[in-house]
Amino acid sequence: MTRFARISGTGSSLPPQRLTNADMVVRLAARGVQTSDDWIVERTGIRARHFVSDGVFASDLAAEACRQALEASGTKASEIDLIIVATSTPDMVFPSTAAILQHKLGIAGCPVFDVQAVCSGFIYALTVADSLIRTGSASKALVVGAEVFSRLLDFTDRTTCVLFGDGAGAVVLEASDTPGILATDIHADGKHTGILCVPGHVSGGAVLGDPLLKMDGQAVFRLAVGVLEDTARAALAKAGKTEADVDWLIPHQANIRIMQSTAKKLKLPMDKVVVTVDQHGNTSAASIPLALDHAVRAGQVRKGDTVLLEGVGGGFTWGAVLLDF
Ligand code: UT7
Repeated sequence: MTRFARISGTGSSLPPQRLTNADMVVRLAARGVQTSDDWIVERTGIRARHFVSDGVFASDLAAEACRQALEASGTKASEIDLIIVATSTPDMVFPSTAAILQHKLGIAGCPVFDVQAVCSGFIYALTVADSLIRTGSASKALVVGAEVFSRLLDFTDRTTCVLFGDGAGAVVLEASDTPGILATDIHADGKHTGILCVPGHVSGGAVLGDPLLKMDGQAVFRLAVGVLEDTARAALAKAGKTEADVDWLIPHQANIRIMQSTAKKLKLPMDKVVVTVDQHGNTSAASIPLALDHAVRAGQVRKGDTVLLEGVGGGFTWGAVLLDF
């Protein structure tokens, strides 16, 4: 019998501190930087984002998202035999955020590791978990995207600091006789490192280089719209499906204009696209599982729906996962 991997529960977490665009205008003005609600909404679709307080880490947001996903799936933490965390904002240089998360969930023994593919991280993590489950190496996995991007933002750079937020999303992915994940498609091209990066690194007890996020927004935008169409079509082709089979598109939540452009290229109406960027901003690896969980809890995505997840981000990395929910 063919073995598949299927999502059996979703969860998410947002830190309580919510900043509207009006709050960002005030925060930036205190540093002599001008922005406006109109500019942010018109260029990005973002209206609010959540930021963690001091002392709260990616693993804390991940743990809450995982507890919700476990409950929704009816799975005990002790049954989990694999944890993969997608993050670019780990708690520490090492050990992995997945190891810290494992301990916070009160379990031990199963393999755990982080995936670093920036905003495509959850797509990469889901692809790896799918492979490990289909080959029999794991049976019940927690696959998580968790980020505290507020820690990387330069609040004197209006071209980036209004775009990002913190949060986490998680799924329980488990072995099943029926799909589940229908197709995966992941890619990277390291020559684009410079257009989206945090160039600093730790050396000899100090941070060398700039530890804040740098982005050439227009270059990222141009690349994103092309690769998102390509990877969506590749995942559909691998599964022998077409756009007409897609009930929901859940793209990485970076900019509403990128999402509208992708939907148009795929001939999908916007009412088939899950949009949370307005309320969460860009939460990098967390954005897709966060949006999925919100759509499930809002009664949009239902059991049996065909869902296309796709992401793009630093690296450059990009990819898609097509699944029956
Ligand atoms: O998660 C990884 C994927 N990341 C993305 O997908 C991000 C992709 N890029 C984007 O979403 C867009 O390129 C941005 C939202 C970052 C920028 O939008 P844009 O339409 O490309 O604006 P722009 O960079 O061309 O800037 C237009 C103007 C500039 O002023 P001048 O030079 O025309 O006078 C900027 O200085 O807007 C100005 N500007 C702002 N004004 C008010 C840039 N940021 C702001 C701001 N508030 N926050």
